[in-house]
Amino acid sequence: MVLEAINLGLITNLSLEYALVALISGLCAAYLVSHLIERSELLSAGAIASGFCLVAVFAAEMLREAPVLEALEFTLWGAGAGFLGLILSVALLEVFEVIFNLTTPLRLLELGNPAQPLLRRLMQEAPGTYNHSIMVGNLAEAAAEAVGADSLLARVGAYYHDVGKINRPEYFVENQLHMHNPHDRLNPNLSKLAIMAHVGDGVELAQRYGLPRPVVDIIKQHHGTSVLSYFYYKAKHNSVGDVNEETYRYEEDKPTSREAAIIMLADSVEAAVKAMQHPTMKKIQMLIRDIIRQKMEDGQLDRSQLTFGDLGKVADAFLVALRGVVGHRIEYPVEGKVMA
Ligand SMILES: [Fe+2]
Ligand SMILES: [Fe+2]
Repeated sequence: MVLEAINLGLITNLSLEYALVALISGLCAAYLVSHLIERSELLSAGAIASGFCLVAVFAAEMLREAPVLEALEFTLWGAGAGFLGLILSVALLEVFEVIFNLTTPLRLLELGNPAQPLLRRLMQEAPGTYNHSIMVGNLAEAAAEAVGADSLLARVGAYYHDVGKINRPEYFVENQLHMHNPHDRLNPNLSKLAIMAHVGDGVELAQRYGLPRPVVDIIKQHHGTSVLSYFYYKAKHNSVGDVNEETYRYEEDKPTSREAAIIMLADSVEAAVKAMQHPTMKKIQMLIRDIIRQKMEDGQLDRSQLTFGDLGKVADAFLVALRGVVGHRIEYPVEGKVMA
């Protein structure tokens, strides 16, 4: 911004006025676009920034003691330039996002909309996974905010992290309400293959639907090289010989960003808390600490750039976000049944 202002000053014969106009309007535009929530707000932010630009141009003309009519003429030119800039920025942003697969906050906000085709498919074809992903999104967003990571990327990445389950939703416990468990008829090795496929399937779907690279990376890394414990222990239980734990590990990349690591932790925490019989805050707190410690000791967080201090903040943020899980559960009154 400052460099652009200096540049403008240089090409306009060392004109301090124009450098100042560029600096003021640029800073104003940068501030306004940093608070956007929807793409449509880009237009209003641009209009406000143009307004500031016009006032700055008029003031600059007055400073160099130009006649009022001339000052007004320059101000009108400024208005035209502002309008053109606004149109170009809205149009070019969308073009660049698509061509270079950019991850702007606006693109992420759009991807977080449940009307997005891939999210809608997840909601319709794997509703249990969709609900799990929303919960993981809430946890991940809170934790990312606590450590100063990209909370929007964490939330949207979490929405898509298990999207690969669309291909075989019935193989995942959260979608098995009122239906038989297909794993009952499979040996643990086949179950493992069916479960682990959701990572590769998710990456493939994400690429097919044009999701940006950081979201694809989150999908690819959300299990890292963790052990699929349930089926590993089932295999050990069923087998007479030894079962190699390494053969029950996911073969993906470990999280390389704070957001991907937070989603890995939030994913495990959400599933474990959901499986708890009588959750209390104390029990949840211990569970969160256990999961983080276990992932750390297993080396899953080695490339994540999360510090010990960050992990403490992540644990606290998860606990606060999970407060709603614990509470009084009042039985729904049924006719003929006396409430105690
Ligand atoms: Fe997963
Ligand atoms: Fe998950």
